[in-house]
Amino acid sequence: MGLLDKLSAWLGLRKTEVNVLCLGLDNSGKTTIINQLKPTNAHHEDIVPTIGFNIEKFKSSSLSFTVFDMSGQSRYRNLWEHYYKDSHAIIFVIDSGDKLRMVVAKEELDTLLNHQDIKDRRMPVLFFANKTDLKDAVSSVKVSQQLCLENIRDKPWHICASDAIKGEGLQEGVDWLQDHIRTAMIDDSVNA
Ligand code: GTP
Ligand code: MG
Repeated sequence: MGLLDKLSAWLGLRKTEVNVLCLGLDNSGKTTIINQLKPTNAHHEDIVPTIGFNIEKFKSSSLSFTVFDMSGQSRYRNLWEHYYKDSHAIIFVIDSGDKLRMVVAKEELDTLLNHQDIKDRRMPVLFFANKTDLKDAVSSVKVSQQLCLENIRDKPWHICASDAIKGEGLQEGVDWLQDHIRTAMIDDSVNA
């Protein structure tokens, strides 16, 4: 970002633009979450499984987000890594009711966190333990334990329980993400 861009963002004249990657297994609720975060007049009526990826935009109070909503289907997961370098943060979505595939979600998360374009960066990672409305859903604490999130020590991370159909839990996550992306950007410009 150029000096003028930084200055206008700092003065509040323009929101800072950031890229966020939305990842997680197929059917976890990524597209439903992103859809809820967009302005009401931009909502898609029908959510279908994502093919490849979609680019979506939404704003928080100080940031303008460009989200790469990636397909979670196994045949498309090799696309994820092409977007790591240009991303400021990651949203990782887990289906709290899908106990059988929790281990697959952990494998994908571990591969992601060990990737050369991710592993040495202090980029914020927001987890949504989604579908908490399902009657056999596990708690966000349990999801956190099963994914061994306490082992993530070199990145700020946070987990929110969410119900993307009702839109519950999403704003708390976006507020956390906004604060931590801004902090990471300030740290980067101090260290530059
Ligand atoms: P891919 O694009 O295939 O990777 O899937 P995705 O992660 O984008 O999932 P998507 O948003 O398409 O949602 C999959 C299904 O889960 C849809 O039928 C949604 O309506 C449903 N769904 C999403 N979030 C929730 C939730 O919080 N609770 C419940 N009960 N269903 C949800
Ligand atoms: Mg999708």
